[in-house]
Amino acid sequence: MSATIIDGFQIAADVRAKVAAKTAELKTKGVTPCLAVILVGENPASVSYVTGKEKALAEVGMADRSIRLPESTSEAELLKVIDELNDDSTVHGILVQLPLPKHINEDKVIMAIKPEKDVDGFHPVNVGNLMIGRKAFLPCTPHGIIVLLETMGINTNGAHAVVVGRSNIVGKPVSILLTRRETNATVTICHTGTKDLASFTKQADILIAAVGKPNTITADMIKPGATVIDVGVNRIPDSTKKSGFRLVGDVDFEPAKEVASFITPVPKGVGPMTIAMLMQNVLEAAENTL
Ligand code: GUN
Repeated sequence: MSATIIDGFQIAADVRAKVAAKTAELKTKGVTPCLAVILVGENPASVSYVTGKEKALAEVGMADRSIRLPESTSEAELLKVIDELNDDSTVHGILVQLPLPKHINEDKVIMAIKPEKDVDGFHPVNVGNLMIGRKAFLPCTPHGIIVLLETMGINTNGAHAVVVGRSNIVGKPVSILLTRRETNATVTICHTGTKDLASFTKQADILIAAVGKPNTITADMIKPGATVIDVGVNRIPDSTKKSGFRLVGDVDFEPAKEVASFITPVPKGVGPMTIAMLMQNVLEAAENTL
């Protein structure tokens, strides 16, 4: 039997609707949640992400302070923009779209954002608080994955989750969230140094692919009945599309869905959840100022 396709598009819309209702309520108290998204340069994938975030802000009724800076922006200039936003009490969240141009130190930029405005959950204070189980802004993609699992009623308690990828944005934080007592999964983290990847993925009740390379996970690497979460967003050339490309994940979807019991598609799987959870974090940042 073919797997149930997890409808991230719909689940994200439901999250945004809840955020919109709470945003309307907060506005009656005189606070309009506001996010500043900073994009440096014109990386096509980043432009598309930022446009998605701007659209979501409008939909949930939040204020949008997007700032687009040229590729040539210096690190000092970017840090100055962040400082001004840190000091602006009408701005609740600051998000600098990654990756940044090579001449800018990403680490320095993330460190410059006030932790209480770091709605990406990338600042070491938020990462540290997450690690030791204190209140923190949860990183959006990992949090979105947890909400997908919860919404679909997928049991994580005692499940073996195998995470492929160790990035700071997805692999590491999702592993921490999955091991929290509320989620209670046993987690294996695989990465480029892993020998015989398939021997691990075949043990996964929940398999999370966050690699950034098409077809990393093939059907023979999946345990029958597993839940497969595909975080990959890869552009591959496709002359039949107006844009000249199509999006595929890290999982070889068609054969994989004949083996798994639940699977996320790309697009309309994890992607929309990232933006929905971002809206939730901006709401929380604004509520925290009351
Ligand atoms: N680039 C890819 N994913 C993300 C994200 O979640 N936040 C930011 N700021 N940049 C990204």
